[in-house]
Amino acid sequence: MSWKVRANDGIDPLGQRLLEEAGCIVETDHLEADELMSRIAEYDALLVRSATKVREDLINAATRLKVIGRGGVGLDNIDVDYAQHKGVAVVNTPAASSASVAELVFAHLFSMVRGIQITNRVMPERGQEEFKALKKLCSNGSELAGKTLGIIGAGRIGRETARIGIGCGMNVIFHDPFVENVNVEVSFHPSLGLENQTATLKTISKEELLKSSDFISLHIPGGGETVIGHPEFELMKDGAGLVNCARGGVVDEQALVNAINSGKIAFAGLDVFAKEPPEFLDVLKLDQVSLSPHIGAATVEAQERVGQELADKVLAHLSKAQSN
Ligand SMILES: NC(=O)c1ccc[n+]([C@@H]2O[C@H](COP(=O)([O-])OP(=O)(O)OC[C@H]3O[C@@H](n4cnc5c(N)ncnc54)[C@H](O)[C@@H]3O)[C@@H](O)[C@H]2O)c1
Repeated sequence: MSWKVRANDGIDPLGQRLLEEAGCIVETDHLEADELMSRIAEYDALLVRSATKVREDLINAATRLKVIGRGGVGLDNIDVDYAQHKGVAVVNTPAASSASVAELVFAHLFSMVRGIQITNRVMPERGQEEFKALKKLCSNGSELAGKTLGIIGAGRIGRETARIGIGCGMNVIFHDPFVENVNVEVSFHPSLGLENQTATLKTISKEELLKSSDFISLHIPGGGETVIGHPEFELMKDGAGLVNCARGGVVDEQALVNAINSGKIAFAGLDVFAKEPPEFLDVLKLDQVSLSPHIGAATVEAQERVGQELADKVLAHLSKAQSN
């Protein structure tokens, strides 16, 4: 029997190959909501990233659907409970992109402490005539080694970020109200022949973390309350740096701009925004802010792992549905 799979937001070629080798017909073009609704009854599996919304009306029309696969972590674009109530399984790939997001945190951190986000913006125009002035502008950089990295959220990406921070010689501290002890596994490249080490770190209060950190990185779910606003910026060390590669809504963007303009914090790195595309443009225009357009999971390696994990999970559900 051949299953029909619609990868409506695309899928990595490896995942597509695994599905096709198992006998699936895989369609990878994107259908807009109306057309998807009119054709959804053709498919056994629907794969999405964040663009396609899978709401109750689409699930009602999906009479043949056995499984919905989400490439990535969040499931906010899928009515999960309703799908499961209708007998449609929902799977995702929560761990596949953790390493890539954590590396992006450090791309922002390394950039911020040396002012690379400023020089990248101005050197094409002013790099020749004002070389000396730009050199002076960035003459007060700092090192990450020896500094304290405060991580809010001790889940998969928070621990991966800690692993890199420890490797950079940083003091790493955690706040997570749902976790008491955080095990951070520090691994080495296999060719070095070194044994993995595990650091077990006790979580501390948010207030303590805000007061003690030189840099703060957020790794908590979105959809809830703002976690960093004016009161939290007030508690931070003068000249601290903030990185948000989690979800936009967890930081109050106006409070962030105020904290930078007043000199309370020195810089920020943002991959995510309250609205995407961003609507609050002040936050995009500050020299002190290093920016990326929500690309935490957008590496070749992460997308391959996402594709492979998704294919494995979807095939397991299709086989199960066939044998029932
Ligand atoms: N930038 C990107 O492209 C990208 C890619 C993948 C994931 N993400 C985001 O990264 C975030 C973390 O992902 P993850 O896989 O590590 O999730 P996870 O579920 O493994 O970890 C989240 C942790 O946050 C903790 N937490 C919840 N509320 C908290 C709070 N108020 N204060 C402190 N800790 C709190 C939880 O206890 C949990 O340990 C999510 O928001 C996810 O959407 C972003």
